[in-house]
Amino acid sequence: MTGIGNLISKRAAARTTSHFTTGPTDGAPEGFKAHPKPLPLHWGMPNDGFFPIDSIDINLVDFPFEKSYQLTNNSLENLSLSGSNQGAQTVTPPLEPTKSVKTIRIERRTSDPDLIDIATGLQYANVEGLGPLLKFTRDFITRTHKPGYENWETIITNGAGDGLNKAADALLDPEDVILIEEFTFTPFLQNVSNAGGIAVPVKLSIKNGSQGLDLEYLTDLLENWETIHPGKNKPKALYTIATGQNPTGLTQTVEFRKKVYDLAEKYDFAIIEDDPYGYLALPPYQPPSATIKLDEFLTVDEYLKDHLIPSYLEIDTKGRVIRIETFSKLFAPGLRLGFIVAHKDVIAAVSNYSAIVTRTSSGTSQLIVNNVIQQKFGGVDGWLQWILKMRATYSHRRDVLLKTIFDSEAYAKKYIDVIDPKAGMFVALIVNFPEGTDFLTKLKLLVWKFAAYGVGVVPGINMAVDKKFSAEHANFFRLTYAPANSDEELIEGGKRLTDAINDFFEKGLEF
Ligand SMILES: Cc1ncc(COP(=O)(O)O)c(C=O)c1O
Repeated sequence: MTGIGNLISKRAAARTTSHFTTGPTDGAPEGFKAHPKPLPLHWGMPNDGFFPIDSIDINLVDFPFEKSYQLTNNSLENLSLSGSNQGAQTVTPPLEPTKSVKTIRIERRTSDPDLIDIATGLQYANVEGLGPLLKFTRDFITRTHKPGYENWETIITNGAGDGLNKAADALLDPEDVILIEEFTFTPFLQNVSNAGGIAVPVKLSIKNGSQGLDLEYLTDLLENWETIHPGKNKPKALYTIATGQNPTGLTQTVEFRKKVYDLAEKYDFAIIEDDPYGYLALPPYQPPSATIKLDEFLTVDEYLKDHLIPSYLEIDTKGRVIRIETFSKLFAPGLRLGFIVAHKDVIAAVSNYSAIVTRTSSGTSQLIVNNVIQQKFGGVDGWLQWILKMRATYSHRRDVLLKTIFDSEAYAKKYIDVIDPKAGMFVALIVNFPEGTDFLTKLKLLVWKFAAYGVGVVPGINMAVDKKFSAEHANFFRLTYAPANSDEELIEGGKRLTDAINDFFEKGLEF
């Protein structure tokens, strides 16, 4: 049987929706014939003529940080930009097949079916999302991560945070267990407890070359569930950030995912795949050059074939995977926009919940994202080209930060290791405390040291599902190269960090 109907929470399954404006649907009198063009005297929606906005112009860039560089030659075929607040960089963007679109106009009304106009975008709308954007999400997933079965759908959300809350609601009843990577995006734990669920941590293996989840541990946990967790319900779901894991930066290979999926089949649980970072699939570290060569891009086909790590969706033949997507990291977080991809039964449950918690996502956000993707980038492949530009920029930033760490005294003295991420925006910095160190106390002290040196990082233990469970392998910090304003800031941040560690170790692990 396809679908995860048996895993949907009783709460979600019991929900129905109806709207007071819906006319009678049963008991039609003999001879009734619907009028072909009924007039609306029922919906409380203002005619769009009342909207004070007639059109919106959106001004765009061709590549990340374009406006941070001084333009020296604006011929698109041979664009060379130099001088910046980004360090001594020259940026050479790729040749583009079509002329660059710098401004798009969103009109009050359009007849183009791929676009959202003001009359529609600023109006009340379907909970699932506006037609053109919904179509884009389906086309995008078909191109990037096509599920291994037919009955899948998408629904627009207010970002991954909202998607996660809705996935938790769709699956978890009180006392239902969900397995979670022991270090994780902890806001999700609140969604789990809000639904009455119980989060059980699964060990991670935190070292270079690891896949994140400790498969042996997971297999043993499932095989011996009754002994290890007597009295607890069997796990109903696994929550995993399988690519560029937050906070460790680790990534599961497709072979690994198949093994985890087999366990999901054997023990009948759903997989919630949260993937804000997967499209930023990074090449291995190499010493950064002063130039970000955006013209050395992969083609979209090469990227999809050889670099983008397949989603759990692609190995899912039964509809037991719920994939959480977001536009936060690839477009902008303030849009509060994302989507869920899942079996249609899950999407129906999510839709019923959306109808009472969020209703539809912001129409303004939907029209901006949809129309920029269509009018600026020309649809799915153009959007993927933009993602490739982000990927190149992130990969440069990752290289800049890692080089600073590799060049440091603390690294040379083996006080620290780093995990070179295969995707995303996080690096785990592992602190090699001498055997027997009470490192939770020392990590706390080290955070004071970082504050004194002027650098912010996240202690891994802050992102533990269960601090006691994870105390023994929480000797790491999460670093990110996402927010820095420039290469100089990244270099300076890395120096402050490694100098602080060196100082701390030289003082015998004291402040
Ligand atoms: C793993 C993970 N999931 C979800 C989110 C939330 O993303 P959004 O801004 O789309 O709600 C984040 C944000 O940092 C994240 O790292």
